[in-house]
This record gives sequence, structure tokens and C-alpha cells, in this order.
Amino acid sequence: MSTPKSRRVFAPGRVNLIGDHVDYVGGLVLPMAVDLGTTIEVVPRADGQVLLTSENDPRPVRLTLPVRDVTEVEPQWGRFVAAVLAEMGAVDGFEGSVSSSLPIGAGMSSSSALSAAVAMAAGYEGAAIELARLCRRAETTASGVPCGIMDQLTIAAATKGTALAIDCRDESFRPIALPDKCSVFIAHCGVSRSLVESAYAERRAACEDAESQIGALRDASLSNVASLEDPLLRIRARHVVSEIARVEAAIDACVRGDPAEIGRLMIESHESLRDDFEVSIDELDRLVDRLCGIEGVYGARLTGAGFGGCVVALTHEEVDAVDVAGEAQSWRVVASDGVRNLHD
Ligand code: GLA
Repeated sequence: MSTPKSRRVFAPGRVNLIGDHVDYVGGLVLPMAVDLGTTIEVVPRADGQVLLTSENDPRPVRLTLPVRDVTEVEPQWGRFVAAVLAEMGAVDGFEGSVSSSLPIGAGMSSSSALSAAVAMAAGYEGAAIELARLCRRAETTASGVPCGIMDQLTIAAATKGTALAIDCRDESFRPIALPDKCSVFIAHCGVSRSLVESAYAERRAACEDAESQIGALRDASLSNVASLEDPLLRIRARHVVSEIARVEAAIDACVRGDPAEIGRLMIESHESLRDDFEVSIDELDRLVDRLCGIEGVYGARLTGAGFGGCVVALTHEEVDAVDVAGEAQSWRVVASDGVRNLHD
């Protein structure tokens, strides 16, 4: 019998350059995996038990496989572990530790990084798209948030050095290089995300409501949107339709090598998320304004679901730090590969 081998897995976080709150209606998005992420190191156990410690929580996660009731698991991050293992039908136990360089709950997909890392640590070996679908189902069970496929697919399928254009309608994706001489920064606005669960589901429901009246938002025009009677649905749908157009334009600008245009589209995206989709907060708005006032910054916007967390900025490569107010932090990030085994 061979000695059980340890496994070390790294799953990146992701930053969405442009295209927020459009993945769950089959829109286009342009995220990239980053060099911050979550590492899991495990060794097998013969007794069907899972024991995971985390440097972010003094309470370990203990599970007995096969997993039965995901929503009862404590501490809460254990629900993501349990849901992934339940989706995989895992029966082989393991123990080990989780550590992360990602800001948690900040719009950088720390939950998706955890989910993908758990799947790989538990021996997942299939295609990237199947891993993304599995993690999406697991995260929806674990958190109750009816998320789209963007985060999981980026983390499963990204390639080093490029962003990923994802068509969330058919789940196809292709690498898109950013223009030369550009850097990407992430800055935390200093406020953790809140309200995301309820507000996210409510925004998604509004989009579906609009779709029941004018058809798929992916195919709708701004004049279709203008025909919606309810003013609230009209602005929600206007965000989605205009954001998808901005993503298309940003992909073209990447291909042409036009960072100023990408930056302009990012600022418009932020304004739309702030005014039409109403998922920004003052701290995010102030940070975006502040970053956009720095020489060499092409544009900035909130990234992810909103209601706190991080903004993303595209800058000239000579900008070597972005000045963030107060306690908040910022990181220069580079486009990285998706989830991977560090040794086998
Ligand atoms: C969260 C969800 C994604 C996406 C973004 C907003 O990150 O997990 O599916 O909807 O919010 O773009």
C-alpha cells in the first residue's frame, strides 16, 4: 500500500475589471484571476472525517463524510467546505489547514477561492467548466446567494497574464490581454460588505421581472428598456443593458490597446452601478473619485457585488502605489493562472 500523499492547492481570488451584476442574466464579463488567493494543505484520513483549520477563524471545521446537512455546519465558512464535498459525493476524509492572502468578504471572491481549493484538495480532476458549475451550486447552497458563474469560472479557468472574457449565456470564455504598460490595483474602501445576501437576490429578482416583460436583457436595447413602466425596473435593466455594451467595448479597447478608453468605461460602469443599480456606498464612491484624481490612473470602479469591499483601478505601469485613505489597504495585482495543485 502506498503512503497517503499530501496535497497543496492554491486558488486565486478574482477581480472583475468590468461587467458587474450581469453574469446571472447571461451577460458578458471581463474578470481576471489575481496573485492573491487561498492555499489549502491536506493529508488523507482513513476514517471519513474532515478536519480543517483556518488562520482566519479559531474554530476548526469538522465534518463526517458523506456530508448530509450543509446549512447546519458551523463555523459558517465550513458550509462552503461541506457543500463542495456534498456536490462531489466525497467519502474520503482529510485534514489540514487553510490560509489566505485575500481580503475576506471584500468582493474578491474569497468564497469561490475556498470552494475551488476544497474541491481540488478533495481530489477533483475534471474539466474547468465542470469545476466552476460544481462550485457555483455549492456556494448557492452554502450562502443562499443566487450568484452567477463569473467568479467560479474565472478561478477555475484563468490563464496567467490575461483577463478572461466570459460569455455567461453559453459559459464560453477566451483570454484577453490588457494593453501594454498597464497595472491593475485593488483598494479596499475600509468598509466590509454588508446586506449583500438580501440585496443581491432582490437585484437579481428585479432583472428577472424586467425580463418577463421585455425578454432577455442580453438581447434588449436601451429603447426596449425605456418601455418598462416601473421606474425602478427601468433603471435596474438600464444598468444591465448598458453594462453589457461597456464590456463589449472594453474588450475591443483591450484588443486595440487603448487603456484610456477602458478607464473611461470603468468610470461609467461605476456610475451605473451607483445610480442605476444602487449597489455602491459613499466610501466606494469617494475611493473611486480619489483614485481617478491620481495622475496615471485611467479609471476605477467598484468590483464584485458592491455594498462595501474593494474597488479596482487600471493605471499606467509607472504608478507604483495608490494612495488609499485611513486604514484601508491596496494591492497591485497581476493576472494569474486559475486553481492549481502546488505539488501532487
Ligand atoms: C458576486 C457574484 C457574481 C456576480 C457579482 C456581481 O461576486 O458571486 O456571480 O454576480 O457578484 O457582478
